[in-house]
Amino acid sequence: MDRPVVIAIDGPSGVGKGTVSRALARALGYTHVDTGAMYRAVGWAAHQRGLSLIDEDAVSALAATLQLTVEDGLVVADGTDITRAVRTPDIDRAATAVARMPKVREILVDRQRALARGRGVVMEGRDIGTVVFPDADVKIYLDASPEERARRRAADPAHGGGPQELAAVATALAARDKIDSTRSVSPLMVAPDAIVVDTTDIPVDAVVARVMEKQELTKPPAALAVSQPPATVLRAK
Ligand code: DC
Repeated sequence: MDRPVVIAIDGPSGVGKGTVSRALARALGYTHVDTGAMYRAVGWAAHQRGLSLIDEDAVSALAATLQLTVEDGLVVADGTDITRAVRTPDIDRAATAVARMPKVREILVDRQRALARGRGVVMEGRDIGTVVFPDADVKIYLDASPEERARRRAADPAHGGGPQELAAVATALAARDKIDSTRSVSPLMVAPDAIVVDTTDIPVDAVVARVMEKQELTKPPAALAVSQPPATVLRAK
C-alpha cells in the first residue's frame, strides 16, 4: 500500500470524534490517529518547559523535536505516558493556544502526513479533510449542538469531568470553539465534499453504524467510489 488510505473525521470539541474514530479504526483494522492529542502534547511539553504560549519560535522548535507517539489512544512524549495528563483544563487551553500558531501547524501537519505513509488510518481533528488530507478517501464532519457537546465532554471520564461542572465546561468549550473556528490558519470548517453527521440526538455508537452503512465501510476504502454530493447531512431520526 503506497498511497495512504485515510478516513478523515473532523468536527468541534466534545462531538464524539474519538469514539467514532476508534470504532471505525477497530472495524477496519486501521490505525487511529488523534491529531488533537498532538497539539495537546506540544501544549503539555511547552508548559513543562515553562515556554511562553505566545513564543511561536520556541514552541515550533519544540513541536519539531518532541518525541511523540499518539497512536491508538496512547499519548507518549519524550518517553513519558501523558495520555491522562493532556486532558486537563490547563492543557485544553495550552493546546488551543499552540494550535493557533502557523509554524506549529506546519510542523504537525507534516508529522501527521508521515503517520499515514503506507498504511490505513482513521485520523481525527479539525483540518484533516481540508488541509492535512484534502484527497482523503472518506471525509466525515461530525456536529452536535453546543449544549449536547458540553454534556458529553462533562461526562467524559478521560477529561475528569462530572455533571456538576457542566456550566464551566460549556463556557470553556465555547471559548475554545470560537478560537478554533476563527483563527487565521486552518480554522475549523466543513470540507465541501464531507458527509456531515448531526449527532445531537443520536448516541455515538449509532453514528458509527450509520457511517459504516452509508459509506459501505465494510469494504476497503481504496475500493470505494466516494462520490458523495457536497456536504450531505445525515440524520438518524
Ligand atoms: O480535539 P482536541 O480537543 O483534543 O484538540 C485540542 C486542540 O487542538 C483544540 O483547540 C483544537 C486543536 N486542533 C486543531 O487545531 N487541529 C487539529 N487537527 C486537531 C486539534
